[in-house]
Amino acid sequence: DSQNPHLFTVMGASGDLAKKKIYPTLWWLYRDGLLPPNTTFFGYARTKMTVNELRERCDPHMKVKNEEKERYELFWKINYYVAGSYTERRDFELLNKELSNFDNLSRANRLFYLALPPSVFDTVTVHIRNTCMANKGWTRVIVEKPFGKDSASSKVLSDHLSSLFAEDQLYRIDHYLGKEMVQNLMTIRFGNQLFNPTWNRQNIASIMITFKEPFGTQGRGGYFDEFGIIRDVMQNHLLQILSLVAMEKPASVHPDDIRNEKVKVLKCIQPITLNDVVLGQYIGNPEGEGDEKFGYLDDKTVPEGSNTPTFAMAVMRINNERWDGVNFILKCGKALNERKAEVRIQYHDVAGDIFGGKTKRNELVIRVQPGEALYIKMMTKTPGITFDMEETELDLTYQHRYQGVVLPDAYERLILDVFCGSQMHFVRSDELSEAWRIFTPLLHTIEREKIEPIKYVYGSRGPIEADNKSDAANFKFYGSYKWHKSHF
Ligand code: BG6
Repeated sequence: DSQNPHLFTVMGASGDLAKKKIYPTLWWLYRDGLLPPNTTFFGYARTKMTVNELRERCDPHMKVKNEEKERYELFWKINYYVAGSYTERRDFELLNKELSNFDNLSRANRLFYLALPPSVFDTVTVHIRNTCMANKGWTRVIVEKPFGKDSASSKVLSDHLSSLFAEDQLYRIDHYLGKEMVQNLMTIRFGNQLFNPTWNRQNIASIMITFKEPFGTQGRGGYFDEFGIIRDVMQNHLLQILSLVAMEKPASVHPDDIRNEKVKVLKCIQPITLNDVVLGQYIGNPEGEGDEKFGYLDDKTVPEGSNTPTFAMAVMRINNERWDGVNFILKCGKALNERKAEVRIQYHDVAGDIFGGKTKRNELVIRVQPGEALYIKMMTKTPGITFDMEETELDLTYQHRYQGVVLPDAYERLILDVFCGSQMHFVRSDELSEAWRIFTPLLHTIEREKIEPIKYVYGSRGPIEADNKSDAANFKFYGSYKWHKSHF
């Protein structure tokens, strides 16, 4: 199979996602020799331009080192560009003609990456199906969110796609599934006797899954305002992490066994209500610098008076034997105090205290970014002559333990998976529909009742109401633990 030609087409090649993410990823995969030897790239978009012009758009994002210059030239030699509409069948027939020139007795496999605005999605997929499919090889189609806006619109999209392609031809990207520590969750849980037996309501008090970004919507306000942080991050990235943290052990590591378990645990979650959430929207910080001065509503691309949340916390419960009574706290926001994505598994207080109330809860922290790490917060006797106690950690910081190991970017792993035909780290349609089932009633309530988000200042920790809510949800924040950074 790897000897056959592979034709990779970027639909929407003139767009932002293409130049910032897809072309750089293709170049890194090519540079590192990870792609099948006979791979050719095609860009397709409405803009009339040459491959050279496409290259100039991508150049600033490609991170080419001096010693890679020659290889970089070779990369662009196997790139082609076709301009055409997204609506006319004729244009897709021309694209197909171009692809066929590289088809080597019709044995080529074809991949299509749809980096397109939702408005043209329908016609493009129909035309690909009718004019551009591989002859004897396979065809795979990669799609990105938004996968609709709620259960109903997502179902329309899913039905549309499944009328054109089989599920094993569809690769729905959630790029958090391509991150090292997210992929590590299964290994941590099911490869360690230490963790697995304590992974339940008997031992765990609460679990917090956090995503924070220190910048606002940065001119993406137009897109963002239509979706909001719940659709942008919580319904996909955070819920994916939740399902990997909470699912039962799959029968095997086969992608469908894993995805069956993910769906099963999602089915145990009731739709979220307004009482379960705290919503926020950032305002400018007059004392801040640059962008920090501007609130969400100051963004010119955001409609006046919008009440779209840029921060959300939701307390979720999983109604099954393992998790009954354990709160899963999902928290995400833009324009906060730091960039961080992590999972915190907080254990119960030690029963039968003999230390005068000094013990703090154990916490297993899985830091997704920045700086991948896994550490356990624990109590130890204060070293020395005293018999006092203090908080410390068992620490697996990657930068320290795996010095020099290169961790590929999420998109690199995922695109490579598509070449290999592995759907393990992609979202299946039933998973997606469960995710929408959980969030749709809440989203509709927010929109129908025009719920006002709580204002928080750019660069802060978000609304204080969120801290109060996590406290009430049995997640204790002591504020006493200090992360020890000396080995960086
Ligand atoms: C995207 C969201 O899916 O993920 C963005 O649309 C967000 O709003 C981004 O900034 C975060 O991805 P990462 O990999 O930088 O954490």
